[in-house]
Amino acid sequence: MYLGLDLGTSGLRAILVDADGHVAAVTDQAYPVSHPHSGWSEQNPDDWIAATERALDALKASHPSELAALRAIGLSGQMHGATLLDAADKVLRPAILWNDTRSAAEAAQMDADPAFRRISGNIVFPGFTAPKLAWVRAHEPRTFDQVAMVLLPKDHLRLWLTGDHASDMSDSAGTSWMDVGARAWSDELLAKAGMRADQMPRLVEGTEVSGHLRPDLAARWGLANSVKVVGGGGDNSASACGVGCFDEGDGFVSLGTSGVLLSARSGFAPSPETAVHTFCHSVPDTWYQMGVILSATDSLNWLAAQTGSKPAELSALLGKTIAGPGQIRFLPYLSGERTPHNDAQIRGAFAGIGIGDGHRELTQAVIEGVAFALKDNHEALKSTGTELKSLLGIGGGSKSDYWVELIATLLGVPIDLPEAGDFGAALGAARLAIVGDTGAAPAEVMTRPAVARTIEPRADLAHAYDEAYAQFRALYPALKEVL
Ligand code: XUL
Repeated sequence: MYLGLDLGTSGLRAILVDADGHVAAVTDQAYPVSHPHSGWSEQNPDDWIAATERALDALKASHPSELAALRAIGLSGQMHGATLLDAADKVLRPAILWNDTRSAAEAAQMDADPAFRRISGNIVFPGFTAPKLAWVRAHEPRTFDQVAMVLLPKDHLRLWLTGDHASDMSDSAGTSWMDVGARAWSDELLAKAGMRADQMPRLVEGTEVSGHLRPDLAARWGLANSVKVVGGGGDNSASACGVGCFDEGDGFVSLGTSGVLLSARSGFAPSPETAVHTFCHSVPDTWYQMGVILSATDSLNWLAAQTGSKPAELSALLGKTIAGPGQIRFLPYLSGERTPHNDAQIRGAFAGIGIGDGHRELTQAVIEGVAFALKDNHEALKSTGTELKSLLGIGGGSKSDYWVELIATLLGVPIDLPEAGDFGAALGAARLAIVGDTGAAPAEVMTRPAVARTIEPRADLAHAYDEAYAQFRALYPALKEVL
């Protein structure tokens, strides 16, 4: 048996699979995010460990014999977060997460030095790890002086599981300290960022064994074997492993808290000027590119909270099929935006509200605004030479046929919806554990899911939506002038 642990932003998912990748058990354990100041987003790393303990205790109670047969664990997680440890591996402050924008000034300063884009292949976004450390140095110098090790969230979990300081290529590619083409820490970028190589974990490929589970934990959960822990991956590359997305032009659109349009690439072809992300894949010698929007289902969640509704109740107001754009435009920049604007300061907006408009019209505007932002990402990806041949729809928002049909229409690409069981990054992590343990070829283990349905673009409505998209495009520069 194999275990995938996905350390998400709102909780940890543990998934137990057999050697063929069939799911035996899943458990989700939640933990909170705190926002002590506007733009801040933090978590207590102890909560991640407590959630893992609860998940493993639950699996031991429900599936003791399957768990006892565990051979390897794969890790995946929210990217970019900074967990700061002292020389005794004690956590120095709450972890600063991927959606925290406090270090916008430090990010802009680093990004102005061409070495960062040249070597890391990416813009230094405020959510990335290096500017977070620059912020800590400027604002919490006593803490900064004690930093002996910086770990990404899932690698902090690895430390607890194995006692090792290690990370994988795909997650580390989002730090701005890595030479993403060479798949190694960059001495030049570390020096420019005022960091040292000894503060970085050892790098392994996502399919490589990074260490073994501590014997006391193995005994606690009744495990019979010496359990390997493999490199794993950042959540997006692990999700790509979960849906078998490796070949040039294979992609997915993920409607989660953030929205992601991802395309596998056969080589390293960075294009930072487009605000597209270019990161190592979890499989050796492969990379992927993606556009990221910061508030996808988060935009609908926000509207639901403000209107005292549930997100599913709001989206049900629209029915299952699209019928042309509404009159209201929504810009989904509630937490700033990455692709294509790289703008941490911008905020969202509604434009064109009429006296008769209510929940239904605002919901349509929000769902359309997120879809337009994903079209922006598609345009950015196309400008790097990516041609998305097929797209899978994943994440919570893909349960809305309306949303998926709208995105298919705007992108002009059919969207496949996988059969039941959207296990995403946790399944990808478990599959990486299988590859790491057995040495099987990644493509044999990480197959594409069976497709339940394909939602086709609506050619009859494409023109009307393109016109509405043109209005959406015109609003960002106007908003920028006044906000
Ligand atoms: C990717 C990113 C998000 C987080 C969400 O660059 O910031 O997708 O990984 O968990």
